[in-house]
Amino acid sequence: MRRPRFQSRPFIRGITKPKKEENIKSFILKISQKDIIFDYSQLRIGCFHFLLNALPKGSIVATSCYTIFDMVNIIISAGHKPYFVDIDMQNLGPNIQELKTLVESKEVNAVIYTHLHGYKADLKSLSEICKKNNCILIEDCAQSLWNINWDQKDNFIPGKYGDASIYSSGFFKSINTICGGFLVIKNNCSYSQAIINSYNSLKPKITGDFIYRLFYGLLFKIVTTDIFFNYLLFPVLKISWAKNLVWINKRAREENNPRYIDRDHKNVIRMNLIQRFLLKFQSIKALDNDYLMKRKLASIYLNELKDLIDKKIIDIPGCIQKNNKYSLDGISSYNQIPMLIYERKKLLNFLISEGFDIAAQHIRNLSRTYPYNKYKKVSDKNASNVVDRIILLPCYPSYKEKNVYDLCKKINYFYKGI
Ligand SMILES: Cc1ncc(COP(=O)(O)O)c(C=O)c1O
Repeated sequence: MRRPRFQSRPFIRGITKPKKEENIKSFILKISQKDIIFDYSQLRIGCFHFLLNALPKGSIVATSCYTIFDMVNIIISAGHKPYFVDIDMQNLGPNIQELKTLVESKEVNAVIYTHLHGYKADLKSLSEICKKNNCILIEDCAQSLWNINWDQKDNFIPGKYGDASIYSSGFFKSINTICGGFLVIKNNCSYSQAIINSYNSLKPKITGDFIYRLFYGLLFKIVTTDIFFNYLLFPVLKISWAKNLVWINKRAREENNPRYIDRDHKNVIRMNLIQRFLLKFQSIKALDNDYLMKRKLASIYLNELKDLIDKKIIDIPGCIQKNNKYSLDGISSYNQIPMLIYERKKLLNFLISEGFDIAAQHIRNLSRTYPYNKYKKVSDKNASNVVDRIILLPCYPSYKEKNVYDLCKKINYFYKGI
């Protein structure tokens, strides 16, 4: 059976017990080591609310040039200016050294550090420099939700060092409430009361955007069921790829259409009743099970592609060699497995013609993408390199091990003789 390259997590996976450790909100507070948690219609809205309240208008916010474009819109809509840095080839997150230099030279008032593709980066030294220079550090943990017991190594997990940390419960995230997000902060900061007061005045509502996402989500669930995907959707995708009907293959992913979206305080919305209801049916145990299944898939990829990694024909950022085996343990939460390759178009042509749903990653180098190319940047060499070479290997819990073996076999076949 062919499998879609993405799959959303089920809406119902056990029931969490409020007031006990199991509750998702107390879990997020625990892993981020913060005191207060706010829920929102989306993570980006939580970030927007924070930026509106914690920073004076006209602040400069450093962030990665390789991130979700709407997170940059949020900076602009909140009345601030983005300042782009390049990425680190080990985890594809923003380059910490470039961030430190900007903070130390007082060129920026805040930093949004994006933990991308399931990776985590140690922000201890960056957070110390931020504190010394009165610069606010925000950790975007949308793609790197992490449980403490997944990795005791180095005693840190994404979200721990930020003055504020943000988490997503979007449709493709580990916790799925159709869309949704959380902001966590400490209660002893100068802006905490402003955020609490403003948050208390918000009303939850079911918006047109939420209804659209709900229907999109339900439709996505239907078209990615085995029968529908194998006999209807995948054949259409395959033909549209061969005939270069780009709009079909890009599907509805918003990341493919970067554009400025203006927002104001009216767009700051809390989670609605449906999102709250779905949140109750997400358990930490389900997150742990997902993690273990994804870790298994990742270890198969790393094992089966070892020769190509050895020969540097492909690069899996961050993977390290232990006992003659590659591993991402303690480095990735396996939400995604990015692979950097050459001959990307040819490889995709080959894999799609062989029946695999696979695609280039959609995030752009924003410092070269309209309308963001006018903002200041430090550098973007790595990001430019990565956007031309990256594909994401499918790695979600219900992806079958057999599909991973088959996919690796085809990738090895493609590069045979190189
Ligand atoms: C790294 C990153 N940041 C921010 C977001 C935005 O999250 P949300 O859709 O909950 O606003 C996403 C969503 O995919 C993301 O991947």
